[in-house]
Amino acid sequence: MQIVGWFYFYRMNKKEVLKQQIEIALKGGGEHRIAAQHKKGKLTARERLQILLDEDSFEEIGMLVKHRSTDFGMEKEQYPGDGVVTGYGTIHGRLVYVFSQDFTVFGGSLSETHAEKICKIMDLAIENGAPVIGLNDSGGARIQEGVVSLGGYADIFYRNTRASGVIPQLSAIMGPCAGGAVYSPAITDFILMVEQSSYMFVTGPNVVKTVTHEEVSSEELGGAETPASKSGVTHFACANEIECIQRIKDLLGYMPQNCEEDAPVYPYEIGDESREKLEHLIPENPNQPYDMKDVISELADPGSFLEVHADYAENIIVGFARMAGRSIGIVANQPAALAGVLDNNSSKKGARFVRFCDAFNIPLLTLVDVPGFLPGTDQEWNGIITNGAKLLYAFSEATVPKITLITRKAYGGAYDVMNSKHIGADLNFAFPNAEIAVMGAKGAAEIIFKKEIDAADDKQAKLDEKVAEYAEKFANPYGAAARGFIDEIIMPQDARKKIIRGFQMLKNKVCNMPRKKHGNIPL
Ligand code: HXC
Repeated sequence: MQIVGWFYFYRMNKKEVLKQQIEIALKGGGEHRIAAQHKKGKLTARERLQILLDEDSFEEIGMLVKHRSTDFGMEKEQYPGDGVVTGYGTIHGRLVYVFSQDFTVFGGSLSETHAEKICKIMDLAIENGAPVIGLNDSGGARIQEGVVSLGGYADIFYRNTRASGVIPQLSAIMGPCAGGAVYSPAITDFILMVEQSSYMFVTGPNVVKTVTHEEVSSEELGGAETPASKSGVTHFACANEIECIQRIKDLLGYMPQNCEEDAPVYPYEIGDESREKLEHLIPENPNQPYDMKDVISELADPGSFLEVHADYAENIIVGFARMAGRSIGIVANQPAALAGVLDNNSSKKGARFVRFCDAFNIPLLTLVDVPGFLPGTDQEWNGIITNGAKLLYAFSEATVPKITLITRKAYGGAYDVMNSKHIGADLNFAFPNAEIAVMGAKGAAEIIFKKEIDAADDKQAKLDEKVAEYAEKFANPYGAAARGFIDEIIMPQDARKKIIRGFQMLKNKVCNMPRKKHGNIPL
């Protein structure tokens, strides 16, 4: 009897110890630091996970991990979990691995053990083929740990790289992300930031001031708006944390779990897919702008378009959509911004998106209305040759089903680059008003009929005559169709139906590239 009593006492104590440890871990850096986090308008690491994951789906790994540092009296300051909550759960019933940095513990700084926890879930994610989502909120390297912390970062970067193209990796920046720490998100597929409460930079305002004498605030240097619009480092600038988390969930809905799978298919019953509105969206005048997003809205399943990189290089549009319930990636020139011209930034933006879609078996729809590459010293000196080649390379190496629709202009090298038949598009459509030529009729006439125009008494009349002559011969889709570069010239209202049927026809496409270790994209 006495033995049984001791046994229960012993067991109760052990359970109490565990309960106590869990209670301490759940409090992170303590009530006062949680209050400080809330005061800044930020959620805690655990609150964020609660909103991100399906109810009651989170399983934590490594809740009781502690740091091993003994310098600067660190052994006396221990917080179970060591500043990062890691584990797995589900989003809309699909498995994901997560880490969420806890700013209330040493400012979310990355120690040796903090890094080990992140690496552990990354390894599990790669081995089990499910996305990794990182919620970043960190003061960077744990200053008390020195090089051990730097090593931890490198261990994460290495895994980010190995996971690239194997599983989707998403990074949300919900607080500071500075120094070398930025390179983990930078390797992942998509970065989301929260306006006014997050920033990303390699060197902060103080270092910038010392080195370059520039005065700049943290917000100006790397707050959400700057990387979302100026550098393109960030794909989404979100108004608040809730919107950011919702955007992560939306994005995942377009992606497969890993590179061996297809994206989820949403129920859709095909009916009358003609869209009369498309007949009126593209102006007759080739120089009149229009919003390509209106065309996308008509082509895609209603409300399914999710734009990526919306504020950066607006002359090209990239984003996910669904057609008859299936995920596609859209790359489209935007005539409403810089006439839809290709330049350095739009080429880089397009190329990165194409490569994501190809890595994860997401078919590509390319909408073309492009007057060519942007001329100028700025473009040339900043590498338009290399950057334009990125987009060309990305489309050329993509083996997913690829459909192209020329809505109006397809001029010069940009015709080739924008997923032309020659670089592997499976189906190429054009609207009847499409102009597929080396350049616009006026520019062409001015060059090839220069002597005739100069010699004419009425130069303007001669120019007009020659422009008309060139336009009649080349500013149409029939030359390209006669050679099979365009498979079909279609009425705008039929475009959605044709594209849906095309992607269905291409559903089982298999296209093997020549054997190689990896290509050498012009980076
Ligand atoms: C250890 C840190 C820390 C760090 C913050 N803390 N950063 N502890 N290592 N890197 C601690 C603080 O001591 C404080 O502890 C708590 O976190 C909150 O910090 P505050 O300064 O009170 O918060 P706030 O005013 O919001 O400022 C946040 C901050 C600032 C801007 C991030 O803390 C800061 O500048 N930290 C240092 C950033 C830094 O230089 N990191 C190293 C970068 S180099 P208490 O106990 O008071 O709560 C780097 C290299 C990576 O990261 C290389 C990878 C290859």
